[in-house]
Amino acid sequence: MMKVREAILGIKPYVPGKPIEEVKRELGLSDVIKLASNENPLGPSPRGVEAAGKALESLNLYPDGACFELKEALSAHLGVSSDELIVGNGSDEVIKLLAETFLHPEDEVIIGQYTFSEYEFATRLMGGKLVVIDALDWHENLAAMAEAITDKTRLIFVGNPNNPLGTIAKKEAVDSLLAKLPQDAILVLDEAYYEYATDPDYPQSVDYVKAGKNVVVLRTFSKAYGLAGLRVGYGIAKKEIIDLISRAREPFNVNSLAQTAAVAALGDEEHLGASQRVNEEGKSYLYAQFDRLGLSYIPTEANFIMVQVGRSSREVFQALLQKGVIIRTGNIFGLDNFIRVSIGLPEENQRFIAALEEVLA
Ligand SMILES: Cc1ncc(COP(=O)(O)O)c(C=O)c1O
Repeated sequence: MMKVREAILGIKPYVPGKPIEEVKRELGLSDVIKLASNENPLGPSPRGVEAAGKALESLNLYPDGACFELKEALSAHLGVSSDELIVGNGSDEVIKLLAETFLHPEDEVIIGQYTFSEYEFATRLMGGKLVVIDALDWHENLAAMAEAITDKTRLIFVGNPNNPLGTIAKKEAVDSLLAKLPQDAILVLDEAYYEYATDPDYPQSVDYVKAGKNVVVLRTFSKAYGLAGLRVGYGIAKKEIIDLISRAREPFNVNSLAQTAAVAALGDEEHLGASQRVNEEGKSYLYAQFDRLGLSYIPTEANFIMVQVGRSSREVFQALLQKGVIIRTGNIFGLDNFIRVSIGLPEENQRFIAALEEVLA
């Protein structure tokens, strides 16, 4: 028998969105759309693609392990210093690095009831203990999270906006939680969908870092910048925290194409603006259609919407798949009669609505 670490046996495999090619193969379809992984429907930043193309010629060389240029660009963009930044192979990697750096077995990690699965994965990997806090009106309950803090709490993960709910924790709620955060615990504000949030009460979390709080802000190039395939995300935190997390990092964790493309994409305001506009327009269209169909949904601050379909999400998923539309079932998040749909291009949204209407008829 293999002598495996017990923590490994507690890990459930990640359930990714179904890839387009797989659906085409399995169902013999030629025209398939994917509104399942909150990807950018406009495609990658053209400037990012061009920069990555040029970087292909240097693939014989190792990437810059320090991500110097990308950190310089982010530093100017965010108004923090380069040593307050860590870049990862996606923000997924930074989540794992946080767990590897701070969790002893049995240490506690506070997460919300409906949340991004990587927090659970990273916690379990390190043998940490999950403390799961019920949602309140489809929002993460930060007051209850604060009450759940013990002397074993090391990390608190708040998806802001939360995936899969799409809702945000407002500044006031984050401020109150921070007021109760002990010195040896860290609040992780996962802002993978930061660029899409429009609520005026959405906190400007980099200010927490500047104020020296125990906060790690996570952001990514996978969503609004359209570079999910390259894998590049980052964490913003005070130098003391960055220095510690960096010890657990692989020397060349971010590939050279990702670094170069991310620098260019960060300066591509046109693509970012267009991505935000497509999202806002898609959101209004989908809200109007859900209203027309009598379906309730959770208003979103991100690029996806949770909509209540009133029946098994797996059934609806399968039926939509037959029509060449890939979405995400709510049941993987513990919300069985909801589906999560990423906001797409106008024609994709229309096709999704037409298919959904037929499936629910
Ligand atoms: C809340 C949240 N955090 C992090 C990530 C991971 O992003 P990345 O592609 O940067 O690893 C995702 C991706 O879906 C997400 O939804």
